[in-house]
Amino acid sequence: MLTLDHITLTYPDGDRDLVAVDDVSLTVAPGTATAVLGPSGSGKSSLLAVASTLTRPTQGLVRIGDDVVNAPAGHPEAAPDAVSARLRRERIGIVFQQPQLIDSLTAVEQLELMAHLQGRSPRSARSRAMELLDAVGLAPWAAKRPAQLSGGQRQRVAIARAMMSSPEVLLVDEPTSALDHDRGIQIVDLITTLTRESGAATIIVTHDEATLASVPTRIHLADGRITAGADATRSR
Ligand SMILES: Nc1ncnc2c1ncn2[C@@H]1O[C@H](COP(=O)(O)OP(=O)(O)OP(=O)(O)O)[C@@H](O)[C@H]1O
Ligand SMILES: [Mg+2]
Repeated sequence: MLTLDHITLTYPDGDRDLVAVDDVSLTVAPGTATAVLGPSGSGKSSLLAVASTLTRPTQGLVRIGDDVVNAPAGHPEAAPDAVSARLRRERIGIVFQQPQLIDSLTAVEQLELMAHLQGRSPRSARSRAMELLDAVGLAPWAAKRPAQLSGGQRQRVAIARAMMSSPEVLLVDEPTSALDHDRGIQIVDLITTLTRESGAATIIVTHDEATLASVPTRIHLADGRITAGADATRSR
């Protein structure tokens, strides 16, 4: 279970603060996906940055199960940065809006690099990487470099890479923004399938509601606040 507990994130902005995320609470059960929707600037990526532990909240806690994984700087439960980094590698899969693949590596090597960073054996990494590439429909492209792949194929490599550590939490920012409508639906369906099969607690950020047929749980953000969705009442 992923829990965002009264998360607020402010950015310094001149002599006052800009409130990017305003007291958002949300729970995501294992094996389910929640979509976060909202207009540009509504705080979606900021919320994901806190959920991913890349950014500390100004207030509030992020938990995986009973473990506090992100807390404000100086909070008694705030883990040191090195601990957060390890936890992020081991327990959280992140797919950024731009796939952020390494130009010189083939698809299968992108995945193997993740396993290497986690200290896993090369042989088990290769078989896991091939299994995941197969799951995202890319086994025949395993030896291709990013320049030889389409935008949707690159996005699928990034999703497979995020699954390499069998993360408990999967966070995906705008997976469909570079894709046409049908490809967008395929990517979202792929994420929901992987979520169900792996038992990850998944958040998909998007402003394209049309791709979300396979994602029943939706949260709407405006000006950093939840305005509608399953947990709307609990953020008050
Ligand atoms: N690093 C930062 N420093 C200062 N302000 C920021 C920073 N990142 C985002 N903001 C501000 O926080 C608010 C929320 O931004 P955020 O990127 O979370 O929006 P978003 O919903 O992801 O938008 P989009 O759909 O355009 O990606 C915006 O007003 C933005 O200008
Ligand atoms: Mg964004």
